[in-house]
Amino acid sequence: MEPGKQVRNTENHDLSRRSFLGVWLGLVSLAVGAVLTSPFVRAMFRPLTARDQHSDWVDAGAVADYAAARVPVRRPIDVVQRNGWRASVYIVKVGSTLRALSPVCPHRGCTIAWDDNEGRFLCPCHGGVFAPDGAYESGPPPRSLDVLQTRVVGSRLLVRYQNFRSNVPVRQAIT
Ligand code: FES
Repeated sequence: MEPGKQVRNTENHDLSRRSFLGVWLGLVSLAVGAVLTSPFVRAMFRPLTARDQHSDWVDAGAVADYAAARVPVRRPIDVVQRNGWRASVYIVKVGSTLRALSPVCPHRGCTIAWDDNEGRFLCPCHGGVFAPDGAYESGPPPRSLDVLQTRVVGSRLLVRYQNFRSNVPVRQAIT
């Protein structure tokens, strides 16, 4: 073989080996990047896509239990949340129907409490005040208490427990 031709063949061989290594390194970088960023991407879109056990229908007791209730009744329900706390809801009578209210303040997520003396729901964190039916009255919360879906099956009241995004004026479910 001529010496010039042999040098050109070696250069071509080196070039194709470098191209192959470049493509291979590029693919490896893409794969590593995808693995590293996927938790962040999932976390970013989770509120839009998530659907989990925290939005199930749960038993909130017999309808008859609330027949005589004059004030909102706090009812623990069988939903175990990720943070280990057991969930609860307030059941209130609005006219002749029962309404389930989330006890989570829509401002920053503190747990509101019914105050018998005030006849209002009060938030201990920043002074949010809500009427007995959950309507916003005063303080920093941007909306009324979140109303949970209910339905009656036989003699039982079922509640669809959900979490909602805090500190936004329009309710957005995140579970
Ligand atoms: S968390 Fe309830 S008023 Fe701020």
